[in-house]
Amino acid sequence: MTEAWEPEDDRPRLGASGPVRVRVPAKINLHLGVGPVRGDGFHELNTVYHAIGLHDELTARRGDTLTLTMEGVGAGELALDESNLVIRAARALARHAGVPAHARLHLRKQIPLAAGLAGGSADAAGALVACDALWGTGLSRDELARVAAEIGSDVPFLIYGGTALGTGRGETVSPVLARPTTWHWVVAVADGGLATPAVYAELDRLRARRAAPAPLGSADDLLAALRQRDPEVLAETLGNDLQAAALSLRPQLVDVLKAGREAGALAGIVSGSGPTCVFLAYDEGEAGMIAHALEAAGVCREARTATGPVAGARVV
Ligand code: C5P
Repeated sequence: MTEAWEPEDDRPRLGASGPVRVRVPAKINLHLGVGPVRGDGFHELNTVYHAIGLHDELTARRGDTLTLTMEGVGAGELALDESNLVIRAARALARHAGVPAHARLHLRKQIPLAAGLAGGSADAAGALVACDALWGTGLSRDELARVAAEIGSDVPFLIYGGTALGTGRGETVSPVLARPTTWHWVVAVADGGLATPAVYAELDRLRARRAAPAPLGSADDLLAALRQRDPEVLAETLGNDLQAAALSLRPQLVDVLKAGREAGALAGIVSGSGPTCVFLAYDEGEAGMIAHALEAAGVCREARTATGPVAGARVV
C-alpha cells in the first residue's frame, strides 16, 4: 500500500554494510471512534490516522548483539532494555525472518513521550524498517505491518504513513485515497504524559456512568471532508471519543483547546489519548500565529507547527 505521492520503495535488498538511517513520523487521529471493550481488553476502533511532519530518527549499524542508545526527548527517562518497543520490534523481525537479532540501534527523539502522538510506536516502526534494510530481510510493507501489529495497535500505520483508516484494535490499516492536499496543524505539547490504558479505562468509567458524549460512530463525514480539500469543512468533522476521558483526567486541557480556538484555529482536538492537543489552521501563516499565541498564553510546554500527510517510516 503506497500513496500516489510517495516514491517507489527503494530499500536495499541485500543488507547494508554501513549505517541505515530511518525517519519516522508522529501520528494524530482525525477521527477516533472507540467502540466497546473486547474480551482481550482492547477496544474496537474506527479511526482515521494521519501522519504529520514531526519525526524521530533511528539509525541501525552492524553489531554482535542487540543494543539501543538514544538522545533527545526522553533520554535518561526511557528504559533502553527489552521492554523498549524498539528492541521488541527488532527481536520480532529477527524471529519472523529467522536471522540473528544483531544490531546497534540509536534513536534521536523529538516526538514527546506518552503524548498521544504514538512516539513509541513510531520508533518501533522505524526499527522494523531499519533492521529490514540492515539485515537484507526484504519484507514488503504489508509483511512489515503484520510484524508491527504484534508490537502495538498503532505500529502498522506508522509503516505506511499518509492518511489511513484503522479498524480492529487499530492494527488493520487501509489507505484513504484522496487527491494530494497539505493540511496545516499546530501541535500543543503538554507538560507530562497520560498513560493510554488509563485514558481508555476512564472512558469506560464515564460510559458506565452515562457521563460520556455519544460515541462518534462512522468516519464517513470526515472522509468526505478530506475529499473536499477545504480546511473549514474538515474542521467540522474532526472528533475523538477519548477526548472526554483525557479532559476528565487532565482538566487543564480545556484551557488549551479554548486558547487555540481564540487564536484562530478552525478546530482543536485532543490527539489520540492525549495530553497533546492539535489544531487545524487555515494555512501556514495562520499555523505560525496560533503556535505563537498558544506559547504566549502559557497553556502548553511548547507549540509546534507541522503539515500532513507525510510518508511513514522510510530509509533516508
Ligand atoms: O496496542 P497498544 O499496546 O499501543 O495499546 C496500549 C493500551 O491501550 C492497551 O493495553 C489498552 O489498554 C489500550 N488500548 C485499547 N484499545 C485499543 C488500543 C489500545 O484499549 N484499540
